[in-house]
Amino acid sequence: MKDMRSKLKMLLLAVFWVMFGFLSTGVADEFTQPIAFSHKTHAGTNEIPCEFCHTYARRSINSGAPSVESCIGCHSVVEGAKDDQKEEIKKAIQYWEKRQPIPWKKIHDVPDFVHFSHKRHIKVGFDCTECHGDIAQIDVISMKIMFADLSMGWCMQCHTKNHPVVKGQVSGPIRQTRGGAIVPGSVNQTPDGSLLGSKDCYVCHK
Ligand code: HEC
Ligand code: HEC
Ligand code: HEC
Ligand code: HEC
Ligand code: HEC
Repeated sequence: MKDMRSKLKMLLLAVFWVMFGFLSTGVADEFTQPIAFSHKTHAGTNEIPCEFCHTYARRSINSGAPSVESCIGCHSVVEGAKDDQKEEIKKAIQYWEKRQPIPWKKIHDVPDFVHFSHKRHIKVGFDCTECHGDIAQIDVISMKIMFADLSMGWCMQCHTKNHPVVKGQVSGPIRQTRGGAIVPGSVNQTPDGSLLGSKDCYVCHK
């Protein structure tokens, strides 16, 4: 009887072990990127500007992950110094040769019923760091390193704050991204010249 029980215990343990293993690899698969790409190497050590790769941050409602073409310009020459770098760079070249886009997984994501546009925010002079933190010092972008929860409260907290304006730009951290002037006819400018975001539901929920 005692023997039976310990066998049962072992069996249960084994079942849990398998289930847990399955669950944790499931999570890893969902968020592990197809290539071990480091922002610290590119934007940090090699000082490649954010907008060199994320070209749409000013123009469209998506920043988007860069196209594989944009990688090959450098990586037809840059092979990588260390073995693991070489290995990962090879993967990028293979996608290019197969004419396949790299299936990057999206991490920062607001629900479909929310309208968010980078363009407007970058134009008035917000720096990437203001919403994403210091990405240039990060190797792997994941949920864990996310600087903000992208909740409605987070958007609102900034939209209801007066942002002092200096030379047509909201003042703040050193802006690498250099926006243009405040969008002409912005309804959000207060009489003293500082800038607010909108509280109007329709602006974010069209
Ligand atoms: C402006 C040039 C440039 C562009 C564009 C570029 N890289 Fe790199 N990449 C580098 C340099 C420099 C290194 C560092 C190599 C070294 O240290 O030997 C590197 C390293 C890497 C590595 C090794 C791991 C790491 O990050 O340290 C991978 C993988 C990689 N790049 C992938 C990509 C992909 C994918 C793209 C396109 C989205 C891309 N690179 C675009 C210059 C570039
Ligand atoms: C050499 C090209 C390159 C440069 C330079 C670069 N990025 Fe990226 N970025 C990528 C690639 C490739 C991905 C998708 C893989 C990943 O998430 O790491 C990405 C992903 C991201 C993401 C996450 C996207 C998501 O799905 O949530 C953010 C945020 C981001 N980059 C911001 C920045 C910022 C800010 C800078 C400048 C400090 C920057 N990037 C510079 C290539 C680049
Ligand atoms: C005002 C806040 C804010 C600023 C400033 C900002 N971002 Fe974002 N970023 C977001 C939000 C919110 C999302 C999620 C958007 C979505 O899911 O549609 C996002 C998503 C992204 C993504 C994932 C792909 C996409 O477009 O959804 C990338 C890449 C990115 N940002 C890069 C940048 C870069 C590069 C800069 C600077 C040029 C920047 N961001 C400045 C808030 C910001
Ligand atoms: C760092 C501060 C900041 C954060 C965070 C922020 N915003 Fe904004 N947003 C602003 C400011 C300031 C403006 C006004 C820009 C203007 O008038 O041109 C603005 C403008 C906008 C606009 C255009 C408004 C219009 O009048 O057409 C939309 C849409 C928007 N934000 C959505 C969002 C959403 C959705 C989020 C959260 C996911 C968010 N914002 C997070 C500061 C912010
Ligand atoms: C500055 C942008 C912004 C404005 C203005 C805004 N929202 Fe939202 N709202 C969001 C974002 C972002 C989310 C998604 C939050 C998340 O994913 O956690 C959201 C989510 C919601 C949800 C879903 C709640 C939930 O828990 O899933 C409702 C309902 C909502 N908003 C109603 C409103 C109403 C009503 C107003 C006007 C009083 C309003 N919103 C104004 C950005 C905004």
